[in-house]
Amino acid sequence: MKIGILTSGGDAPGMNAAIRAIVRSSNQLEWDTYGIFYGFHGLCEKDITGSLNNFKELHPRDVSQVLGRGGTFLKSARYPKFQCEDTRKTALQNLHALEIKCLVIIGGDGSFRGAQALYQTNLDYEILNDFRIVCVPATIDNDIPCTKYSIGADTALNTAMECIDKIRDTACSHKRVFLVQVMGRDCDYLPYMNGITSGAHIVLGSHDTADIRTISQSIIEGLSVGKDFVVIIIAEGLQKIKSGNSGEILNIRDEKYSQFTASEMVRRELISTLSEEFKDRIRPIVLGHIQRGGNPSVFDRVLATRFGVAAIKTLDLWDDQINKQPVMLALQNDGETNDKIVSLLLQQVLDKPTLTANRKYQFLNQLVIRGVQYTHAKWPEEL
Ligand code: F6P
Repeated sequence: MKIGILTSGGDAPGMNAAIRAIVRSSNQLEWDTYGIFYGFHGLCEKDITGSLNNFKELHPRDVSQVLGRGGTFLKSARYPKFQCEDTRKTALQNLHALEIKCLVIIGGDGSFRGAQALYQTNLDYEILNDFRIVCVPATIDNDIPCTKYSIGADTALNTAMECIDKIRDTACSHKRVFLVQVMGRDCDYLPYMNGITSGAHIVLGSHDTADIRTISQSIIEGLSVGKDFVVIIIAEGLQKIKSGNSGEILNIRDEKYSQFTASEMVRRELISTLSEEFKDRIRPIVLGHIQRGGNPSVFDRVLATRFGVAAIKTLDLWDDQINKQPVMLALQNDGETNDKIVSLLLQQVLDKPTLTANRKYQFLNQLVIRGVQYTHAKWPEEL
């Protein structure tokens, strides 16, 4: 049997570890494994010589020393053209030319929608017989429904934590206020968890309205009760700011603010309400792609290896009579203290809304901020 592997969308630390596990366990079954470079882009577009050299056969030795490397050696791409049916037909024809009928797609939500569409196109045009697709969740955002973790989220959290620890050193030395913008789209998993791991004074999630007056008061209060620094974490997906002067709600996704990052917008609004003494202390910073790079953590290496082996097991045990649709692997609780990898129909996962992080992490953080009164009357239901 011949299988293809590709990584798609934003890279995530641990993708290489998953590829390694797939190649090595596929080799145990004596299958031929092809790496498809540049994700869906590489799957569809030939290079200038006209040959399909985005496809490279991978042998067990080709994946030595990739386990601990961040990024993806298969490269990745964002490829909006995949939304066109004709492009997907080309993808299927390219797979057909190489007699590849199994695809392992490592990526996030957008990539999985592409996978489902590819399956549908094959159904409509019958290009490949018994086409099998297995999706492996890998995104630092941890926003994929039905799985507790996606590959890369743990490493990104650790990376951001280390960065914020460093920011705190300098913030402390000058009694400054840092507005740290973190990635994570509008899921808020990264902002909330990094709020806890860095002792953030405030976390502004993407679904919150940043009330500038309340934030200003809280900064003044924090510094007045003896805090040496203030870290405010801002989700990159933050949309709304309540102006401290006019009380107007600003939609910062609006075209007229497009040249400003979320953290810069919050800074601009804050300095218009704070006195000279405080406004000079405000510093915005965007962690950006630093969070996406770096060597995968222990957790991500193990998770990626489990997902990789499970992908081949799923393809091996696939019953073409029963299962025709793409599946997604997920890490779920087994009801005891352990977790297990399960295989779910991809369409069922895609039918659910993308995840929003549990707000209990937000409350948890508020409870443990030094010197700030916790104003929530109730304990969170679950901790
Ligand atoms: O989905 C992963 C992610 O890093 C998001 O957190 C972020 O919004 C986005 O990708 C950035 O994408 P790009 O690297 O294409 O700018």
